[in-house]
Amino acid sequence: MTSPTKTAAWKQLRSHYQQFARANFQLAALFENEPHRFHEFSLKTDQLVFDFSKNLITQQTIDLLLALARECGLASAITDMYGGKEVNNTENRAALHMALRAAPADQISKPEVVDTLDRMQAIVSAVHQHQWRGYTGDPITNIVSIGIGGSELGPAMVTEALSAFAVPGLKVHFVSNVDPSHITTTLAALDPGTTLFIIASKSFTTTETYHNASLARKWLLESGASKADLAHHFLAISTNLQATREFGISKDNTLPMWDWVGGRYSLWSAIGLPIALALGMDQFRQLLAGARDMDQHFLTADLAHNIPAIMGLLGVWYSGFFGSNNHAVIPYNQHLHRLPAFLQQLCMESLGKSVTKNGDRVDTNTGEIVWGEPGTNAQHSFFQLLHQGTHLTPVDFIAVAEGEDTHKHQHSILLANCFAQSMALMQGQSLTSADPDSNSSANPNTASAQLSPHKTMTGNKPSNTVLLKQLNPYTLGNLIAMYEHKVYVQSVIWNINAFDQWGVELGKSLAEQLIEQMTNSNNQADYDDSTNNLIQQVEQWTK
Ligand code: F6P
Repeated sequence: MTSPTKTAAWKQLRSHYQQFARANFQLAALFENEPHRFHEFSLKTDQLVFDFSKNLITQQTIDLLLALARECGLASAITDMYGGKEVNNTENRAALHMALRAAPADQISKPEVVDTLDRMQAIVSAVHQHQWRGYTGDPITNIVSIGIGGSELGPAMVTEALSAFAVPGLKVHFVSNVDPSHITTTLAALDPGTTLFIIASKSFTTTETYHNASLARKWLLESGASKADLAHHFLAISTNLQATREFGISKDNTLPMWDWVGGRYSLWSAIGLPIALALGMDQFRQLLAGARDMDQHFLTADLAHNIPAIMGLLGVWYSGFFGSNNHAVIPYNQHLHRLPAFLQQLCMESLGKSVTKNGDRVDTNTGEIVWGEPGTNAQHSFFQLLHQGTHLTPVDFIAVAEGEDTHKHQHSILLANCFAQSMALMQGQSLTSADPDSNSSANPNTASAQLSPHKTMTGNKPSNTVLLKQLNPYTLGNLIAMYEHKVYVQSVIWNINAFDQWGVELGKSLAEQLIEQMTNSNNQADYDDSTNNLIQQVEQWTK
């Protein structure tokens, strides 16, 4: 496979798009003419509905996108990933996150995963049953997970999303930023004797994590703990046993990670220990079950009825033919407020690539810029641009049918807003419906006629709506796995590697050089004029 643009389906999609543009295709008109459009363009699993009817598509569009998927070998690429082929070709690694949530009888189930889940279970019950105690002999009341990127975003997002399921008496905190205020403000409210740290780092070479972990160790030692006491307060999750040992965390207190799991796909592994501690192991296993069922759907549903496949192909349609470069994710659920940040890493670190798997330059857009905030807040900030701006931003609305029992009415207001926004984006508004009293054609000089261009909305803005029955560990597992597979689908079509991230390395190594310069006054290297002057200004202001 070289480039999707060389396929017959891409050429057909291009002329299909041109016909579309010429016909001034109107979504609202399609809804009028196709009374069953939702049934035609929606898919459902047990507890999740994926409504893609408000997209700029006809059945022919979908047929052509499916033809593109076939020409790009999507079905066999899915089997390759599941079968453990080295789909991460630049690092010669498989991408077996599906093995982390496999049922024991599944072909890809791994004994080391089962064993790690058992070890997690033992830690969780020791902490919950107050058998795991701090150096003062008191039970653990606070967990501080130190990690960044994939070692933080997934666990933090899930822990917050499922806070309604949290076990009482234990608080889980996340520290990621090397900005010392992140750890110091977190620790300020905590008691060293009852705090357990989890150092989550696949590589155990990440600067931010290393420095925050070192500050945590110092904080404990300064509180009166001895070096031997630290064993009561530190767990690590890593592939790098030598580095964890050098840091002072024993093998017994270290849970494994594996090269065949990418950081941003790792919340299902021991990296998810903070989730398991916050919610209990049963809920963690429900999260895995939700992801596993989405895996089964992805592996077995034909592409025309395959939610991640259709989601991914729609993104290819907008970026490849409409020139869209971004995608908004708007969860209408406050608990999901960190979902956009999680998806930013998942999608943008995976798909922000400009060469194909073979190293050739890509010749179409890849990797959408993912952004978003929860609704309804977002309606009062950036939705103006979605409705009347000049950029095409496909939106994923995420809604949850069941709300809190005690506030049903207010939950209905939330959902009504969600559905109203996708409707408004789709249908737009003519002046006569915005202002029935106006008669601009009769007299173009009236104030209302002059306001006409400001008040009208073209509509025709595409969106998906993902509706969950409830927000619980199972449905959240469904939702996250759906996005993981969407990313893989797009990587296959664009023929890029979704599992490496070479682009982050240069910044890391330049930072190492600058750290040396900024912390050692004998070292005066010469950089570009901007960097030199910024460093000098800091020196002047902080002398
Ligand atoms: O810098 C990017 C990255 O390597 C991510 O891919 C990863 O999730 C994050 O840093 C943290 O890495 P680690 O778990 O090895 O500390």
